[in-house]
Amino acid sequence: MTTTATGPGAKRAAISARTLRTDRWWIAPLVTFAGLTAWVVYATVRVFMHKWYYVADFHYLTPFYSPCLTDRCVAGSAEFGTPLPSFWLIPEAALTLPFLLLFRLTCYYYRKAYYRAFWLSPPACAVPDGHATYTGETRFPLIFQNLHRYAFYAAGIISVINTWDAVRSFGTGVGLGNLILSINVIMLWAYTLSCHSCRHIVGGRLKHFSRHPVRYRFWTLVSKLNARHMMLAWITLGTLALTDFYIMALAAGWWPDPRFIS
Ligand code: FES
Repeated sequence: MTTTATGPGAKRAAISARTLRTDRWWIAPLVTFAGLTAWVVYATVRVFMHKWYYVADFHYLTPFYSPCLTDRCVAGSAEFGTPLPSFWLIPEAALTLPFLLLFRLTCYYYRKAYYRAFWLSPPACAVPDGHATYTGETRFPLIFQNLHRYAFYAAGIISVINTWDAVRSFGTGVGLGNLILSINVIMLWAYTLSCHSCRHIVGGRLKHFSRHPVRYRFWTLVSKLNARHMMLAWITLGTLALTDFYIMALAAGWWPDPRFIS
């Protein structure tokens, strides 16, 4: 139902209907809600399980426990020492998980995803906000979204550690676990380098690309990845969970690791 707005300065139609959209716009936020909730529940359970995260025979360490830093870490899994106590609430990777969480929480794509799916702010284009007021990201707590570029630096360091985990696992031959760890790391790098902050760091604040051919080249590559940032965000959730589940299954003895080269 549409009526004409009246009065001085009135330029838009006054629409009494909640939305004029007739398509199933709610499917996308619903799927996002279900997917992110399932992943967070799985990751939380795994992080506080404190077992089945390392396969000593092949040096497989799940990314959820890397780097392993508490004095509860099983033999061989702590590549960087064990400076943290083994208190139940302290995850094995307590120093890096908060930065990974911050990186994903402040990611431009995930912001769109959870603003729509969890906060309904707004749930979709041309659908009203689920809240009476809108303050954007200019006030507490959302002003902290601006920390994203710093979380990007931390995520880069953590990706290097994950890369080392994958490389180290090749020291005892090659099995299916090596391939899974490697694919996960490649996808993590693709996601990290496709970050909007990375694109700005590489090619931002320049007046003339012609005077910076190397940065222009990198900016072009990062821009190609950046166009797939949403896809990479979901792929890495999948590869992280799959890698963790595979290593958990091996560590628990549910199935053996097929070996291609011993
Ligand atoms: Fe998504 Fe930076 S914008 S990780």
